[in-house]
Amino acid sequence: MKTINGIPALGLGTYPLKGNDAYYAVRMAIELGYRHIDTAQMYGNEVEVGKAIKDCGIARQELFIVTKVHPHNLGSDHFLESTEKSIANLGGPVDLLLIHWPPADSEISSTVDRLMLAKQSGFTKAIGVSNFTPRMLRDAHARSGGEIICNQVEFHPLLDQSELLSTAKQLGIVLEAFSPLARGAALWADPVQEISLRLNRPASEIVLRWIMQQGVIPIPMTSKPENAKSNLAALEFELSADDMHAISAIGDRDGRIVHTDWMTGRWDS
Ligand SMILES: NC(=O)c1ccc[n+]([C@@H]2O[C@H](COP(=O)([O-])OP(=O)(O)OC[C@H]3O[C@@H](n4cnc5c(N)ncnc54)[C@H](OP(=O)(O)O)[C@@H]3O)[C@@H](O)[C@H]2O)c1
Repeated sequence: MKTINGIPALGLGTYPLKGNDAYYAVRMAIELGYRHIDTAQMYGNEVEVGKAIKDCGIARQELFIVTKVHPHNLGSDHFLESTEKSIANLGGPVDLLLIHWPPADSEISSTVDRLMLAKQSGFTKAIGVSNFTPRMLRDAHARSGGEIICNQVEFHPLLDQSELLSTAKQLGIVLEAFSPLARGAALWADPVQEISLRLNRPASEIVLRWIMQQGVIPIPMTSKPENAKSNLAALEFELSADDMHAISAIGDRDGRIVHTDWMTGRWDS
């Protein structure tokens, strides 16, 4: 599979899967050809993801495993300790370790320092952030001396993320798209439906292709083999410039579907 900044161009999300559901979804996806799996301390499924990785029969170096440090573990007391626990859950060092949500502005530098220490300690091959605004991303990039390779953010046709994408590209940072299907809502948008009918492809493939064609890496969650297979098929075709524009035109700066109290009012800063 093509990679961007060393990250496979499509991954499997695992929130909110737990227990056997998480285990079997990861086994199923790897069997179908997925090599990039996204988990987090917050999801409570690292143990099952780790077991699926161990049992899947694919060499660990063929896989790309991402986890994220829980917002409650960003302080100096818990950062490395919680990361060590994640690594034990996942059966070894990860490929990419992210800060799940930005800390208070005054803490961004020290948190990025801890992330870099986790890398120097061999807990992860690469580091990144999640839910960082353009300003926060520039700060993290500068503090890390360019070591941040990715920002995982909400990204789908209903949300205009053009400013963030342009900042990330300038910095050489790739965006990963979480909730890439807007949890299903993006599939019903007019241009998506029209293009889907015309190209005779599912609306989900049109949305994922629109994301990938901008150099963004989607991580759709599914526990259904037919959907997992269809999502992979988005790697195999191209949308015309007109179709790309038609979908981009529906994005709204207020189009978020994932809301959290602690980020309210910080998105545009
Ligand atoms: N960094 C963060 O703060 C953050 C926040 C949210 C999410 N995430 C990550 O991003 C991943 C994906 O986001 P998400 O789960 O919120 O939303 P999503 O991937 O946009 O939507 C998941 C929903 O879409 C359905 N689906 C998947 N493929 C489909 C297809 N081909 N056709 C029709 N329906 C399809 C799934 O149902 P079925 O199982 O029935 O297919 C599921 O209900 C999460 O699992 C998590 O790993 C990160």
